[in-house]
Amino acid sequence: MPLVSMRQLLDEAAKGGYGVGAFNVNDMEQIQAIMAAAKETNSPVIIQASRGARSFAQDRFLFHLILAANELYPEIPIAMHQDHGNSFETCKSAIDLGYTSVMMDGSLKEDGKTPASFEENVAVTKRVVDFAHERGVTVEGEIGVLGGVEDGHGAGGTGLEHVTDPDQAVEFAELTGVDALAIAIGTSHGAYKFSKKPDGSVLKMDVLIAIHKRLPNTHLVMHGSSSVPKDLQDVINKYGGKLKETWGVPVEEIQLGIRNGVRKVNVDTDNRLAMTGAIRKVLWESPEKFDPRDYLKPAREAMQKVVATRMTQFGQAGHAGDYKAVSITEIAKGYKDGSLKTKPLVAK
Ligand code: 13P
Repeated sequence: MPLVSMRQLLDEAAKGGYGVGAFNVNDMEQIQAIMAAAKETNSPVIIQASRGARSFAQDRFLFHLILAANELYPEIPIAMHQDHGNSFETCKSAIDLGYTSVMMDGSLKEDGKTPASFEENVAVTKRVVDFAHERGVTVEGEIGVLGGVEDGHGAGGTGLEHVTDPDQAVEFAELTGVDALAIAIGTSHGAYKFSKKPDGSVLKMDVLIAIHKRLPNTHLVMHGSSSVPKDLQDVINKYGGKLKETWGVPVEEIQLGIRNGVRKVNVDTDNRLAMTGAIRKVLWESPEKFDPRDYLKPAREAMQKVVATRMTQFGQAGHAGDYKAVSITEIAKGYKDGSLKTKPLVAK
């Protein structure tokens, strides 16, 4: 099947009441790990690339690697998504290349660091929505600002500085017509999210639930959703690493989110930890080894294990065969004739 529009994939997830992991990639081994996990668990999947990933791998390498995944696993619905686009031009370049979905992160200015005004965010996001929808491409927007920094993108801080205001979320969704909405509820990118197991004072699930009540049909997105499990931290530290003690987002909180409108769950850090731990172990235990395959194979297997576990926990497992991809040309017609509504249903 062709690459799937993320809108179709998330509409199906909403129908089935499950969430879909969006996993970041930079190289071939990560794409292979995700696809092996998707096959193992029979899951639809979102593969996403940040600006940093696109420049690290060189755009066309990464694009063609994802196309190879699509060719090799025709039974698995795959949406190809630009993570944290910082400008109209970045999103346009992904769309021109063939991505089926983009995130316009207008919560920050183009520098990817400075929080933008609400008006600036609406203007740039709406511009991307108009351009993308004409081509059948999905748009994720962000309201509120996440904490931390990922691949040089982010405002830093704890994630509690710009928690999403539910009224603004409603206004933003109505003004922009985004297909999916990322909200800030205290999470941040990277390994260092919380200094102890998070409770409601730092992880604002009540805000998420309030937004879902007002926007019951809008697909919500949780960024910074790695759980940073202790066992993955321990492997790194056992083999010479120096991670400080830290906590991520507990899986049960993500599952609560999924019961309350979260359809896309962004995970990067857990996979990075798994791969690094596996590589450290090989190099520590067998310092005589120098063939990259000796450590890349266990790294790929470690990532596959994490991804398959998350796919099962998010509920997407078993759903790959539920539908066939609608081409983005058809999806574009749906945006044009209004059958794919872009004005959200707002509950008073
Ligand atoms: P983590 O750093 O928690 O994996 O978050 C990744 C993310 O949100 C990508 O946009």
